[in-house]
Amino acid sequence: MTSLGITHVAYILSALLFIMALAGLSKQETAKYGCLSGMVGMALALFTTFFTVNSSIGVVLIILAMVIGACIGIFVAMRVQMTQMPELIACLHSFVGLAAVLVGYNSFIEAGDPQPELMAEYNTHLAEVFLGVFIGAVTFTGSIVAYGKLNGTFKLRIFKSAPLQLPGGHFLNLAALVVSLLLMIWFMAADVAPTTPLVLMTIIALAFGINLVAAIGGADMPVVISMLNSYSGWAAAASGFMLDNDLLIVTGALVGSSGAILSYIMCKAMNRSFISVIAGGFGNAPVAKKDEEVGEYHEMKAPEVAEMLKNSSSVIITPGYGMAVAQAQNAVATMTEKLQARGIKVRFAIHPVAGRLPGHMNVLLAEAKVPYDIVFEMDEINDEFEETDTVLVIGANDTVNPAAAEDPTSPIAGMPVLEVWKAHNVVVFKRSMNTGYAGVQNPLFFKDNSYMCFGDAKKTVEEIVNNLD
Ligand code: TAP
Repeated sequence: MTSLGITHVAYILSALLFIMALAGLSKQETAKYGCLSGMVGMALALFTTFFTVNSSIGVVLIILAMVIGACIGIFVAMRVQMTQMPELIACLHSFVGLAAVLVGYNSFIEAGDPQPELMAEYNTHLAEVFLGVFIGAVTFTGSIVAYGKLNGTFKLRIFKSAPLQLPGGHFLNLAALVVSLLLMIWFMAADVAPTTPLVLMTIIALAFGINLVAAIGGADMPVVISMLNSYSGWAAAASGFMLDNDLLIVTGALVGSSGAILSYIMCKAMNRSFISVIAGGFGNAPVAKKDEEVGEYHEMKAPEVAEMLKNSSSVIITPGYGMAVAQAQNAVATMTEKLQARGIKVRFAIHPVAGRLPGHMNVLLAEAKVPYDIVFEMDEINDEFEETDTVLVIGANDTVNPAAAEDPTSPIAGMPVLEVWKAHNVVVFKRSMNTGYAGVQNPLFFKDNSYMCFGDAKKTVEEIVNNLD
């Protein structure tokens, strides 16, 4: 077999391993194998690409880039907290976008002047360059804005998480698309492609990315992250066309389509229209002030919560972002075992966007060895709250907010939530009366059957565990 043949076979194998990775990651039980397939596929792809380079200076540059990239990657991966994953992902997407822009410009410069007999190829190449640079530039600045919005965990949120819409923002977006289309016609119509329309489009696309993502806010941010994931995939696929690399095209298409499907599933889970979210502009209703309260709340201390639990026959735990911040999952698992030992039925209810990344709560509970069969998705358990004695809301807020179901003027109106308030008693574990991610006040805290248990979730749960002995 020729070296070209070996490269093709290796690329097909890598593509198959990536597809197996996606299939494996779709179920908790097979997720480990999914990760392994992805790692092997990526290693194979990297080594194959490495051996296709002919020039020795190219080899040296690739090794240098890989060493620098690997050092930064290992350093960041060792330090990143689970709660910082979405912003890390946003940051990585911005690199993919930037890479697509650079590949596009390089590919344009390398193409040089067209040969008359190869005009069709030249025009196809120009279209690839233009689209690749456009998608890359939007992904680059959009991801930087998303990173800035999500950066709350570093105590320095560069952009407000609330939507930031310029006057006539939608019109500006539409104008950017139309002008970019006209620039593409200018770029491709001339005998020798001019540089000016490409540069002008790049500037417009960079601004478009900022305006598009800045306008999206509140609870819609998870959709933005998966949407940018999709864009980064299409940017990589466009680079694949420019570099004539089949594996990059296949991988980019896999990332692009899976990101788009995930965005769609999330929109369905939050009762949002996909088009409206990606056009920017949901959550634009006035956001409640953090200190705006809507009545009196009742407080309960950990020993009293323990007593209430002892007198319950069924308990549902709804974890949220606060459980991740407090790293309370192991204490929660111990509490679950103690309650089960007393013959109490304990189940977990997981909202699709609880925490800060898809599956965040499932990962934490799996890490604490909570059995899969007592962990339920929202749709599977939402009808069971009415029959439940006690619900423990551990560091969740937006995902259990009755305003989403009851107040049409709420910024999160229409988002399906866990209907915890229907249980006989609800205890909310958090440190203060602060709002959650969407910045919306939560009427749950002021209901007659609801009790606030203030403090760090881990310490509170540990105190309950001690009182269950
Ligand atoms: P949130 O609405 O973010 O509320 C978390 C609550 O945890 C806060 O109100 C906070 O109150 C409390 N908390 C923080 N640290 C705590 C600690 N150490 N101990 C006890 N409580 C603590 O959480 P949620 O219900 O999980 O909702 C998730 C939100 O994030 C949604 O709006 C969702 O759209 C958004 N989001 C989700 C994702 C994905 S994909 N899951 C990605 C990005 C954004 P105190 O400050 O008073 O303690």
